[in-house]
Amino acid sequence: MRIRSPARLPLAGAPWWLLCLVLSLPLQAAEVVYVRAGQLLDVERGRLLSDHAVLVRDGRIASIGPAVTLPPPPGADIRDLSGYTVLPGLMDAHVHLVGDASLHGYAGLGESLPAATLHGARNARTTLDAGFTTVRNLGAPGYADVALRDAIAAGVVPGPRVLAAGLGIGITGGHCADNNLLPYEDGARGDGVADGPWEARRKVRQNVKFGADVIKVCSTGGVMSRGTEVGAPQFTLEELRAVVDEAHSHGRKVASHAHGATGIRNALDAGVDSIEHASFIDDAGIALARRNGAVLVMDIYTTEYILGEGATAGILPESLEKERRTGHVQRENFTRALRAGVPMAFGSDAGVYPHGRNARQFARMVEFGMTPLQAIQAATLHTARLFGIEHDTGVLREGFVADLIAIQGDPLDDVSRLEDVRFVMKAGHVHRDETVR
Ligand code: ARG
Repeated sequence: MRIRSPARLPLAGAPWWLLCLVLSLPLQAAEVVYVRAGQLLDVERGRLLSDHAVLVRDGRIASIGPAVTLPPPPGADIRDLSGYTVLPGLMDAHVHLVGDASLHGYAGLGESLPAATLHGARNARTTLDAGFTTVRNLGAPGYADVALRDAIAAGVVPGPRVLAAGLGIGITGGHCADNNLLPYEDGARGDGVADGPWEARRKVRQNVKFGADVIKVCSTGGVMSRGTEVGAPQFTLEELRAVVDEAHSHGRKVASHAHGATGIRNALDAGVDSIEHASFIDDAGIALARRNGAVLVMDIYTTEYILGEGATAGILPESLEKERRTGHVQRENFTRALRAGVPMAFGSDAGVYPHGRNARQFARMVEFGMTPLQAIQAATLHTARLFGIEHDTGVLREGFVADLIAIQGDPLDDVSRLEDVRFVMKAGHVHRDETVR
């Protein structure tokens, strides 16, 4: 994989996880899997192809075509999914594997980094079970996401392929990086805090040093952070430019958490590659995103969890109050941005709500304006492009990595069928098969 932003980064450095992926493929060299699909979804054209077969060898798709023309070779592991619809593995551009919905607010202070990391391994498995074969982890303490990524790639624990951000970078008292729960005398300062362009550059360099694939920065306050205002900008334009310049010079894309309109515009002016949340994006922000080719990653399901189960899950009352002002506006702006033609990728912010429920967002994306096909493309073609792995994943094609899932019925008719994934193959390895009954 070459993480690069379109026509901007002529960088060669392949990130660790890709090297691990490539290195791990020969381990599966003996596996020849023949998948017989009742229906196969061509996510580029939006066509369902009947009675197709996918032949997988060495973790990649060796051939794909009508089953009559492609019989199973002797010795292949045959998976008869003729009662199912097969499509590419799903991708989520915004998760927090090292973070649990059961530990909101002050409860999270009691969890050690080793405990959080072990829970992260469980969350990774849950995410893969749900059909998400690649995720972007946008921020984790202590580079736990980098460790998790590498452990998954080495086959130590099961999980999706992970692009890891390491420490989220933010201002003192900001949303991303600081700990705003403890009083002054405790001296708590988040590891990702940076004030001023040079400190911000240093944090980017530190993240690169410790293995980050992507840089996460916060250019506004947030819902879940104590004492921050969702609409208020964080970091100056000068600081954001420093982050983006440094990240791009290292071949890393930048994902900016941003709810408020000014912080969104600042981040886009600075040249970030994606805006996360984008709740209060205005017309100028929409125009800038279009011009830059920046991608919006709008987590429009989360609000239901926060407002529905958040109070019992320990979410701070002030966060609930902020969410009541944010979620419905974000959904309206999702529709506006979509109509304006801004590129959009699927991102759920799972971790704020329970892992494994990522796919619940598809139905909301359709409710707020996408066709089912567009919603599926957002989680396959568009995420692959945002991750810089579109030449390897995102569609089912000869030579591509064999990441595929199966569901019952037609997702173009009812996209919520993606909430019930029955078969998951990642890089040619059958991770889960609930079809054999
Ligand atoms: N992590 C985000 C924040 O704290 C979650 C926002 C969830 N709400 C929403 N409407 N998307 O700001």
